[in-house]
Amino acid sequence: MDGLTQMSEKAVLTLPGKRIELPLFEGSEGERAIDIGALRKEAGCITFDNGFSNTASCLSDICFIDGEKGILRYRGYDIEDIAAHCTFVEVAYLLVHGKLPTEPELKTFSEYLNEHSMIHEDMQNFFNGMPPQSHPMAILSSMVTSLSSFYPHIMDADPNFDITAARLISKVRTIAAFSYKKSRGEPVVYPRHDLPYCANFLNMMFQSPVKQYEIRPEVVEALNKLLILHADHEQNCSTSTVRMVASSGANLYAAMSAGVSALWGPYHGGANQAVIEMLNEIINDNMNIKKYIAKAKDKNDKFRLMGFGHAVYKNFDPRSKFIKGVCDNLLAKMKIIDPLLDVAKQLEEAALSDSYFIERKLYPNVDFYSGIIYRAIGIPTNMLTVMFAIGRLPGWIAHWKETVDNKHWKIWRPRQVYVGPARRDFIPMNKRA
Ligand code: SDX
Repeated sequence: MDGLTQMSEKAVLTLPGKRIELPLFEGSEGERAIDIGALRKEAGCITFDNGFSNTASCLSDICFIDGEKGILRYRGYDIEDIAAHCTFVEVAYLLVHGKLPTEPELKTFSEYLNEHSMIHEDMQNFFNGMPPQSHPMAILSSMVTSLSSFYPHIMDADPNFDITAARLISKVRTIAAFSYKKSRGEPVVYPRHDLPYCANFLNMMFQSPVKQYEIRPEVVEALNKLLILHADHEQNCSTSTVRMVASSGANLYAAMSAGVSALWGPYHGGANQAVIEMLNEIINDNMNIKKYIAKAKDKNDKFRLMGFGHAVYKNFDPRSKFIKGVCDNLLAKMKIIDPLLDVAKQLEEAALSDSYFIERKLYPNVDFYSGIIYRAIGIPTNMLTVMFAIGRLPGWIAHWKETVDNKHWKIWRPRQVYVGPARRDFIPMNKRA
């Protein structure tokens, strides 16, 4: 937290009959915040901020976003540099440790990922017990929580946090691949120690006893970049959920599972699946792009342009531009022509030339093109948010650790403004209307 500067100036709040001064502080990138910790005691009132859009819940060293300038940095490094030069495992190490790994550190971390890549054989019963049409996110969230049962000795963090982080990052990958195989009634493919993280995942997903799966370098590269671009994003809904659960002292697995559940929503990580479903709907509706742009603008229509807009970015989401490039490159190398990509590009062009989207600064976000890449790799639509979770896991782990290591740790307990009925007398059953 070296980047925190207490300002000499104060914020002055004038309330009816009262004037109070509140401390002001500044973060590394010049963000200013009013410390309202004493507000209730000194002013007898609280603040109201629907959805916490203007409220910082914590101080954090991990990720910086500038929504107006379209800047995203992990531990101070620009996402463009990281995505261009790192592997996902390097970025996982960076997020968890706050520094890029040396060769020996990366080698050790990779060994831990291998050592902890298997899941307890009894967990297979979970897969077999889940109804066949179970959503992969339902399976993932329950399997992650169940890790605390199968590995009770690791309810929290190992003295060597590398092992804790590697265990989760590795096992979540195996759980995702096993749930895919189970959904297809195929035998699971176990992890291999001779394959790096992303190649290992692809092998577990697509290798089969009857058909050789070729692990293509361009697919491995695209997967690395996608997971990197999803690895963290400061206090988004699921990461804040992880921190909320961590603040109660719940174990790491419970916090991760809560993150999976929060990510599932279509307004958050579930948007990548919703984008593919939307693009298919448009194709099946005679490519009527104008109709869907109109629906998105119609306040009486609950349809939204999925993969568009962002709570923070009021400029291009730097990730979506990068992902669009990865998409074009991979499909060209794989000689895939996906009609969904054409629709997506036409939709983006139509929206970005429409005043409704321009005025509201609505641009494609991380979810707009990512699903098309996963489709090209062969990952089914209902697994897209699982892929988001695999990418986001190192970020969640880093935020969990930052929360539990915080020497000013307190349980998160937001207030509310009660607007319900005032006190009223009890009504016995025979007198109720
Ligand atoms: C992720 O927070 C993170 O960092 C999340 C994430 C991460 O990495 O963790 O980046 C990942 O969740 C990306 C977002 C994925 N969700 C979607 O693509 C779903 C579609 N987008 C939206 O529903 C919406 O844009 C949100 C939920 C993302 C943001 O919602 P906000 O904060 O309410 O949006 P806003 O305040 O900027 O909206 C301003 C206006 C409103 O209209 P008016 O009241 O001004 O008339 O824009 C409208 C909104 O109704 N609007 C949209 C729209 N998004 C916003 N209108 C049509 N289609 C959309 N997609």
